[in-house]
Amino acid sequence: VQRSLVLVKPDGVRRGLSGEVLRRIEAKGYTLAAVELRTATPEILAEHYAEHEGKPFYAPLVEFMLSGPVLAVVIEGERCVEGFRSLAGATDPTVAAPGTIRGDLGRDWGAAVQQNLVHGSDSPESAAREIGIWFSDLT
Ligand code: GTP
Ligand code: MG
Repeated sequence: VQRSLVLVKPDGVRRGLSGEVLRRIEAKGYTLAAVELRTATPEILAEHYAEHEGKPFYAPLVEFMLSGPVLAVVIEGERCVEGFRSLAGATDPTVAAPGTIRGDLGRDWGAAVQQNLVHGSDSPESAAREIGIWFSDLT
C-alpha cells in the first residue's frame, strides 16, 4: 500500500492546526503510520529540499522550516500521494481552493516564503526518499 510523507510546517504547529490536519487526513480515510513532533535541522532540510537549492526562496524556506517544530507524519492508503496533494491544495495559500487545507486555513502573511501549513510528497518516489530522511527507522 502506498505511503506519503506529510509535514505540518512550523506555521501550522504554531497556530495549533496539527490536529485539524490529522483530522482531515483521517476523515479522508488514510491511516496514520507514524506521527512525531520534531525540530528540523539544516542537514535534514538540505536533503529534504535538495531540488530547490539555488532558487530565490530556498534560504527563507530553510529559515522558516527551522523556526519551530514540525509534525512529521507518514500516511498510508491507495494513491495517498496524490490524494494528500489534493487535500493540501495549491502551493500559494491565497489562491488555493476553498475546501483544501491551504485554501481554508492559510493566507499570505507577507513573509519572504509562502507559509502554507503543510508539505506533502509529490510522487511515490519522493515519498520513499522523504520517509527515509524523516523516519530512518521506518524504511
Ligand atoms: P511542499 O508540499 O511544501 O513541497 O509544497 P509544494 O510541493 O506545493 O511546493 P514546492 O515543492 O514547489 O516548494 C516548496 C515550498 O517552497 C513551498 O511549499 C513554499 O513554502 C515555498 N515556495 C515554493 N515556491 C515559492 C515561490 O515561488 N515563492 C515563495 N516565496 N515561496 C515558494
Ligand atoms: Mg514540493
